[in-house]
Amino acid sequence: MLKAPQSLAQGRHYLAIPGPSVVPDRVLQAMHRPAPNIYTGELVEIVESIVPDLKAVARTRQEVAMYIANGHGAWEAALSNVLSPGDRVLVLATGRFGHGWGDIAARLGAEVERLEFGNAAPADPDVLESALRADTDRRIKAVLAVQVDTSTSVRSDLAALRAAMDAADHPALLMSDCIACLACDRLEMDAWGVDVMVTGSQKGLMTPPGMAFVFFNDRAEAARDRAACATSYWDWRPRTRPDGFYQYFFGTAPTHHLYGLREALDMLVGEEGMEAVWARHAALARAIWAAVDAWGAAGPMRPNIADPTYRSHAVTTILMGAPDGKRLQDWVSAQAGLTLGIGLGMGDATDPNSEGVFRIGHMGHVNAQMVMGMLGSIEAALVALEIPHGPGALSAAATVLARQG
Ligand SMILES: Cc1ncc(COP(=O)(O)O)c(C=O)c1O
Repeated sequence: MLKAPQSLAQGRHYLAIPGPSVVPDRVLQAMHRPAPNIYTGELVEIVESIVPDLKAVARTRQEVAMYIANGHGAWEAALSNVLSPGDRVLVLATGRFGHGWGDIAARLGAEVERLEFGNAAPADPDVLESALRADTDRRIKAVLAVQVDTSTSVRSDLAALRAAMDAADHPALLMSDCIACLACDRLEMDAWGVDVMVTGSQKGLMTPPGMAFVFFNDRAEAARDRAACATSYWDWRPRTRPDGFYQYFFGTAPTHHLYGLREALDMLVGEEGMEAVWARHAALARAIWAAVDAWGAAGPMRPNIADPTYRSHAVTTILMGAPDGKRLQDWVSAQAGLTLGIGLGMGDATDPNSEGVFRIGHMGHVNAQMVMGMLGSIEAALVALEIPHGPGALSAAATVLARQG
């Protein structure tokens, strides 16, 4: 007689957290090589070829500086190149990460003003416009937006924020954190009037954590002339106009990351193309939302962002009440080989550790069968744990995917 298995988790594990994301085998294989020469040869050519492809991903013709850093490093790099102590910045807080960026600005000596939009709404352009109109002596030097806040999964409309700044005729820089969503949600940096954009290697760029990127235009470069916070390491000038290869990274280059990133950019820009990358993320996100809606029809599960217009295509935050969010995460990890993202900063007095919240990362190297497997595993958990849920979730998701063909 067959014995019931202890766990069905053996096999390839799926890390469906909102970053770091799944690293494609091709990227891993590109990194698996002997240490290259850092002074001449292939590595130099790779760096020079990466720059235009990064700009293609961000839809910009302006500059990009590369750093050996994570997203926090990108935040500090961007701010230090445009601020002086005492400058005022306006943070558009749509979750935990906007506040985090504001905290870094405060440590640099900036005066930080925060517009709080809560945990379930995008930044409101009208509120921004009023705040900027009220700044009659133009003390605000930069508006810090987060295109997708990974804690809440809300997506703000950067073009609308730029329009609000223009309507207020305010000269502040529009700076955006696109760490969660670059190469997942559409971004048109130049067309949308984003002056500074920061991101990292570990999400839509499908490369391990460890590289950070700051994109900036000539308005931001003009601010750099006055920025007293700039330091040798974070200075974006030598990195974008290097006098010798070593200046790209102000020291030893992140050799193996560069091979990995080259491969990832081949996949994104050279092969799939950005329009198709964005369309894939949109389709997969809609399939996930269709399943969540079906489960929620007769149970506690619901997406954190009610209006799909403001949902990210890279990450979805789901509310279901404590302790079931945590129970579900534990079950799929132990029984199905699937890691979902924890709730981040979404708790309250009844749920201080956000145990009623989980997040699905659907960014980067993700396809239809991964999403269907992930949704099927969640459905199995709902059944096993006897958490109430509506029927038809997998069929709803499959229908969304079928209609994309
Ligand atoms: C939107 C956003 N900003 C900033 C960060 C911070 O990046 P890191 O953890 O790489 O420092 C993250 C990380 O998840 C993020 O999602």
